[in-house]
Amino acid sequence: MDKKIVYSGIQPSGSLTIGNYIGALSNFAELQEEYNCLYCIVDMHAITVPQVPATLRKNTLDLLALYLACGLDPEKSIIYIQSHVPEHVELGWILNTMVGVGQLNRMTQYKDKAQKQKEVLAGLLNYPVLMAADILLYQASLVPVGEDQRQHIELTRDIAQRFNSHYSETFTLPDIMAPKVGARVMSLQEPSKKMSKSDDNANGFILILDDADTIRRKISRAVTDSEGVIRYSDEQPGVKNLLDIYAAFEKITAQEALQHFEGKNYAALKEEVAESIIAELSPIQERFHELRQDKEALEAIYKDGAQRASALARKTLRKVYRKVGFVGRY
Ligand code: TRP
Repeated sequence: MDKKIVYSGIQPSGSLTIGNYIGALSNFAELQEEYNCLYCIVDMHAITVPQVPATLRKNTLDLLALYLACGLDPEKSIIYIQSHVPEHVELGWILNTMVGVGQLNRMTQYKDKAQKQKEVLAGLLNYPVLMAADILLYQASLVPVGEDQRQHIELTRDIAQRFNSHYSETFTLPDIMAPKVGARVMSLQEPSKKMSKSDDNANGFILILDDADTIRRKISRAVTDSEGVIRYSDEQPGVKNLLDIYAAFEKITAQEALQHFEGKNYAALKEEVAESIIAELSPIQERFHELRQDKEALEAIYKDGAQRASALARKTLRKVYRKVGFVGRY
C-alpha cells in the first residue's frame, strides 16, 4: 500500500520559539521514515499581516535552513516555498467559493489576529481557505500542527466534504496529528498565556536560535511561585510549564519529569530545564548557521522541491477544474 501523505507548513514570520519547535518542527523529521511528507514554507500566509519585504525574504531562507537543520531531508521529503507553486492560490480561489463568510468570521485565530490590526485585510479572513488548499492539493491524510490549528483542520475537512458532495469524491479528508507531548508551551513570564515571540517581554519566550547563555538567563528568570515544592498542578502554572518543557525536550511524560524533580528545589529545576533545552538545540543551531551560508545549496533544494510539489498539485487541480466546469486547456 502507498504510504500516507503528511503535510505541514510554517510561516516565515521571524524567529520561532521552542513552542513552535515542540508543537511542530521537532516532530517533522521522524515522520519522514513512515510517510510521504511535504513541508512547506508558507510565505503567502505570512503576507496576510504587514511584512517588510527584505525581512520576509531573509526569514524564508532562514526557515528553509532551519527545516534542514532539524533533519528534514530533501531526498525523503518535498521541501518547498508556497509562492513557488501557484496551484495553491488557484485551488484557494475555488475553495473560497465553497465556504461561507460567517464560518470564516468565527475562526478563533482570525478573531485574535484581527483584533491586533488597524485594518483587517481580506487575506486574513481567507487565510484558512488558503491553508485548506495547501493540504487538499496533495491529498494529505495527516497534518502535524499544534493544537491551535485544530479549528483550521476541521474547516479544511468541512470544505473538502462540501466539495466532494457537491461535485464528486475528489479530496482526502485530513486529520490533525497532535504532538505526542501534548502540552502547550506557556510564557515564562505569564504562564497563563501561550508562549509567543510577539510578547513584549523577551524573557517570556525562548527562541530556537537563542544562544546558551540567553537560554540559561531566561529560564533562571522564569516566574514560579512561593510554594517552594515541585508539583504538577494548575495552581503552580510556572512550575508546571517548566516540567512540561523538560518533559518535551527529554521525550518523557510530565509524570516522569515530576518524579525526576521530586524533592529538588526550583533552582535545580531551572538549571536542568535550561541544560536540557541547550543540549537539544545547540547542534541544530550549528547546522543552521552552516547551511544558511550556502545560498546555492538552498536554492537547489527549494527549486527541486517546487518542481516536485507542482507536479502533484497539478494532478489535483486538473481534476478540480474539470469538475467545476472550466474548459480544459490541456
Ligand atoms: N496556519 C499554520 C500555522 O500558523 C501554518 C500553515 C499554513 C499550515 N498552511 C498550512 C500548517 C498547511 C499545516 C498545513 O501554524
